[in-house]
Amino acid sequence: MKTYDVVIVGLGYVGLTLATSMAEVGLRVFGFERRKDVVDLTNQGKPHFSEIGLEEALTRVVRSGHLVASTTMDPDIRSENYVITVGTPLNENGKARLDMIENAAGQVAEHLDDGALVILRSTVKCGTARNIVAPILAKTGKKFHIAMCPERTLEGNAIQELRELPQIVGADTEEERARAGALFRRLTHTIVDVSSLESAEIIKLVDNTYRDVQFGFANEVARLCDAVGVNGYEVITSGKLGYKRTNVALPGLVGGPCLGKDPHILYESARERGVALEITKAGRTVNERQPFETMDFVVSELDKRGFPADAPIAMLGMAFKGLPITDDLRGAMSLKVLEALREARPQAEIRLFDPVVSLEKMREEFPGYRVCATQEEAYENAAAALITNNHPRLAKHAPAEIVTRMLPHGFIFDYWNHFSSRSPEELGEGYFAVGNRMGATA
Ligand SMILES: NC(=O)c1ccc[n+]([C@@H]2O[C@H](COP(=O)([O-])OP(=O)(O)OC[C@H]3O[C@@H](n4cnc5c(N)ncnc54)[C@H](O)[C@@H]3O)[C@@H](O)[C@H]2O)c1
Repeated sequence: MKTYDVVIVGLGYVGLTLATSMAEVGLRVFGFERRKDVVDLTNQGKPHFSEIGLEEALTRVVRSGHLVASTTMDPDIRSENYVITVGTPLNENGKARLDMIENAAGQVAEHLDDGALVILRSTVKCGTARNIVAPILAKTGKKFHIAMCPERTLEGNAIQELRELPQIVGADTEEERARAGALFRRLTHTIVDVSSLESAEIIKLVDNTYRDVQFGFANEVARLCDAVGVNGYEVITSGKLGYKRTNVALPGLVGGPCLGKDPHILYESARERGVALEITKAGRTVNERQPFETMDFVVSELDKRGFPADAPIAMLGMAFKGLPITDDLRGAMSLKVLEALREARPQAEIRLFDPVVSLEKMREEFPGYRVCATQEEAYENAAAALITNNHPRLAKHAPAEIVTRMLPHGFIFDYWNHFSSRSPEELGEGYFAVGNRMGATA
């Protein structure tokens, strides 16, 4: 019999950071992951994605024997605590996939001992813990406890946030909350108990939808400023200067593995109960339309400046965000920009660069595109450079300097307003941003 303090099902972005953090505080952790490459890397102490502080911590806990990963869960593995962290991407109909949750719950059920605690940590549609996971566990005839403890860390800052963020613990009974709380108290000081599984499920979805809606509003302000012909960055930053009642976000590409799907899952949770969440839906509509809407502008500017259909175009920053640093491409809106660009300029040579994603991963993810090792290589003699994430390194050179390396009349379209606080001299005549199309060719 091999007994572990906790079994974590799924060693993706969430599972691996959690497993490592739990092992760091002295818990004996078994990580069950179906991908062999991930298991092999984990057991060598190497993370399969970029996350600050993870590699050092993982190396330590693997060496000390506190974390062991495997593609199989042998019958002699036992634990009083299971945490399910498998993915919940949307299916082709835009609904949250449940199959991975069902499989994971089934695997936990096979091992369940009387009295074990099962924690659902994935982001799920409201009702999943009670209506999907619990019935699978109940079929075993064993007594079990269930809690919903959603992951809320920011990719790129997960190791630190696992220690600092308040942990939401949702369960129906005091005993279940106390048990789940005791486990997470090993990591963080603040446990926030909520009185049902559903409350905890909704909290997670609301947190992310709130951010999506805020960013959607910022993008809507940018659309207005573009239509009026004023600088959206100036409007937003000036309006909130010393004025505490508003804090409008800056516009930009809004996607990624969470914001791209969680509002849809929240929407679906309400729709199933006969309620249409209109603001939630509008936020997604604005954010999902943006890559295509902005491409209309980019293409018209290319045409007005007389560039041929095959003029090279650079895209800088492919991961779904640049800060905190990540190499995660899942749900990145840069992919939608690329799709729109490919459609609009099928003959163009599109060059791709990312400051964090490895060249190997870039070539694997973007076959048929020219992957560049430096941003300079990407925009050298290009007609347009599209800046598609907020990595600070992409703001290394001023726009006026960048365009001197591009084709004559080449221009920058900045989805993140990297340079909008700079003087007109530094911006030059070939700089546009979301919410700032001033100086566009008539
Ligand atoms: N990525 C984040 O920072 C983040 C933050 C908060 C919440 N979440 C949520 O957490 C969940 C997981 O996200 P993620 O980014 O870690 O996903 P992921 O796809 O990176 O990781 C899930 C892992 O589970 C494995 N897996 C799937 N089914 C399995 C099974 N039956 N048995 C064993 N392993 C299995 C997969 O191979 C994968 O490695 C999602 O619901 C997500 O929305 C993610």
